[in-house]
Amino acid sequence: MTQDADAIVVGAGVIGLGIAWQAARRGLRVAVVDGHPGEGASWAAAGMLAPVTEAHFGEQALLRLNVAAAGAYPAFIQELEAATGMECGYRRSGTLAVGLDGDDLRVLDDLVRYQRSLGLDAEPLSGRECRSLEPMLAPGVRGGIHVASDHQVDNRKLVRALRAAAGRHAAIHLTGASRVLVSAGRVRGVQMEDGAALTAPWVVVAAGCRSAALDGIPEPLRPPVRPVKGQILRLRVPAAAPLLTRTLRWLAHGSVGYLVPRSDGELVLGATAEERGDDTEVTAGAVHDLLRDAHHLVPGVSEAVLAECRAGLRPGSPDNAPILGETELPGLVMATGHHRNGILLTPITATGIAALLAGDGVDPRLTPFSPLRFSRAVSAV
Ligand code: GLY
Repeated sequence: MTQDADAIVVGAGVIGLGIAWQAARRGLRVAVVDGHPGEGASWAAAGMLAPVTEAHFGEQALLRLNVAAAGAYPAFIQELEAATGMECGYRRSGTLAVGLDGDDLRVLDDLVRYQRSLGLDAEPLSGRECRSLEPMLAPGVRGGIHVASDHQVDNRKLVRALRAAAGRHAAIHLTGASRVLVSAGRVRGVQMEDGAALTAPWVVVAAGCRSAALDGIPEPLRPPVRPVKGQILRLRVPAAAPLLTRTLRWLAHGSVGYLVPRSDGELVLGATAEERGDDTEVTAGAVHDLLRDAHHLVPGVSEAVLAECRAGLRPGSPDNAPILGETELPGLVMATGHHRNGILLTPITATGIAALLAGDGVDPRLTPFSPLRFSRAVSAV
């Protein structure tokens, strides 16, 4: 029987578009299904590529994947920019993590010991040294950690470039998927919200926090993803008078935040992490708290234009790590649960899942993140 495509990707955020582009490059006929391409978490994100400063205790396997993903970025961006002629705002400007009070500094001391124990490149700095790197920092900053290898990309430029690259080779259907079609023990395709069906031997679920909502996926194989709300602001300063030259992350009296400066004067200020289901309202309290903390760290932000307030939904997973690879249902592949690291993990997810679809097996760096770690736990209950 003729199939409509070799692979259908459900979801056109950076993960789905990246997979579609890379799979099409390998000669597969790919269809992407999404009613709102690139408008979800990919658009809301800040674009930090900061595996070292964003490292968390107890997440070593994820940290290894994140470091590998950061290493894959330059070649991925080079290839994407060459394929599209579109610049993605990839900046190798480094990241500075700072603390405001003594307790914040003690947390950063523990973090830098942890980073260095893993052989990561992280340099502890005094408050004075932090200010000599970033002169607009408040005098109250007590100290910090400089990580030269933590970079950034402009996530919105990345979305546009991936959409252009994927759109050249793959069919992008501007309607959502409502159901995964399954018969005789394997995936057959998807039914779209407009009622039409698309057939393919592979279906990749890359629908972010909506990945669990797709009908037709057998219950034990549903990816355990949930929305984690992030409220995030976009400020603007003159490009010729930037407040910061590198990404700034902070602990300010125990509260975490970041400012990501773009070369065009945009300054992304984030972000809350809230368990509020599908809620994407922007609240006065969150905007206040983000601006208050940013002002404590970099008083000059008060002069910036407040250009945008938005909330996005990260696809959280039970262990904060992505869910990548084949499920127990033949043909059904997961590429979801990227939580805080969707932009960072785009290249390694895209190339790894495309290789799987093309019959080249599983990238060993992805095997710890197989969906089987959750479905086996469910079937054992
Ligand atoms: N990785 C940044 C965030 O999740 O807010």
